[in-house]
Amino acid sequence: MVLTKKHQVIDLKTGQLSGHIFVDPDIYPQELKQIFGRSWLMIGHESLVAKPNDSLHTYIGKDPVILVRDGKGKLHAFLNRCTHRGNRTCRVDDGNEKFFTCAYHGWIFANDGKLTHVPGYEEAYYGELHRETHALKKARIDTYAGIVFATWDQHAPSLEEYLGDARWYLDTVFNRLESGTEAYGPIKWMEPVNWKTPVDNCSDNYHVPLSHGSSAGLETAYLGRPRTTLDEQFKSPSKHLSVNGHAITFRMSQPGDVRRAHGVTNENLHLFEQYYKETQADAERHLGKFRAGHVQLANHSIYPNGVLGFRLALPRGPMLTEFWHFVVVEKAMPRELKKALANGSVSNNGPAGLFEQDDLDNWRQVTDGTRTPMGQSLPQDLSMGLNHSGRHDEYVGEVSERYISESNQRKFYQRWEEFMNAEDWGDIALQPRTASYEGTATMKG
Ligand code: FES
Ligand SMILES: [Fe+2]
Repeated sequence: MVLTKKHQVIDLKTGQLSGHIFVDPDIYPQELKQIFGRSWLMIGHESLVAKPNDSLHTYIGKDPVILVRDGKGKLHAFLNRCTHRGNRTCRVDDGNEKFFTCAYHGWIFANDGKLTHVPGYEEAYYGELHRETHALKKARIDTYAGIVFATWDQHAPSLEEYLGDARWYLDTVFNRLESGTEAYGPIKWMEPVNWKTPVDNCSDNYHVPLSHGSSAGLETAYLGRPRTTLDEQFKSPSKHLSVNGHAITFRMSQPGDVRRAHGVTNENLHLFEQYYKETQADAERHLGKFRAGHVQLANHSIYPNGVLGFRLALPRGPMLTEFWHFVVVEKAMPRELKKALANGSVSNNGPAGLFEQDDLDNWRQVTDGTRTPMGQSLPQDLSMGLNHSGRHDEYVGEVSERYISESNQRKFYQRWEEFMNAEDWGDIALQPRTASYEGTATMKG
């Protein structure tokens, strides 16, 4: 490959991708700054900090962050770093507190970030410390359908622009009903792989019938359904598309169809059928007839590190990812079905999940195959469906002709290059928003 830019890793003419970006220790710190320092990142869900003074410890990339609802109900995200010497001011995963007290010298911060108490303020500091300029470092936050996003970059576009037309598809799972969603979790584990590998995998429908053959075989045998074959996937009218680096795939469906999810069993299928039938009219009011009836979001990722739903690939090193798994369910759903989905999600995509183990084995092997001297010098091949994607009459985004393609992966690495080479947001393009939204749904729910 001919390298002409500072970072040119994907050859869009041939689909060849430089493998070193998955293992190179010099790339990783640049990603933390150029990508995780600028993007809007999912950090939590409003339901996890529902009451005044609730807090959740989370991350903006590698930076530890306290997501907190202050006494007046306003959400904030603060760097969990005392402004004195940098100690962590919050040591719990979640809680309900009005103040965060630093355990080193006892500075106290209110949950709106203000520094309210300094031991020895008069005696040791002679009353000369400017408490106002020592508030906790605050991130910019916004929400989409209850999911809290944050960015350090004051010049980033709005979250609505950042998601762009991807929202048209994301709404079908995160924003189907006006009554909204709630989240459980996270379950956390470490994966000895680069964060980009699981993200890339999120819209790789190519691997599903093969890698997950035995897991899916068990599941479908139990449900008494025919197995999905690779041939069916190739012929499927479902879609594979990309917007602003977000990778989307969706299935064509019929009004009232049960959303395909782990946790739907022979025993509870009739309850899910009843639920989707009963809520179809509400969904149509919220999303319009077409989206509510015919579009079911399938495998997808939200740039840069949102993985298949509200799950996060948090960067922890060139070859180390901390994986966070949340489950998001509709509030209106009966408790029994919420429980079934949560159990299904964990037992298939949790750390010991059937499907997750299939994936993780591939990701580890891909990593190992890239870290050797010869392996590192060779490209990965992402040529599938080259020159077979573009604008579509009905669907927004860069749409592939087939459900199975590597177009989204090429777009993801193209976006990666764009962020890695950009001086600032002025160098990062956003696709114009062209989707038209039927129904009452907004960014806020
Ligand atoms: S580091 Fe927090 S009070 Fe000193
Ligand atoms: Fe998979």
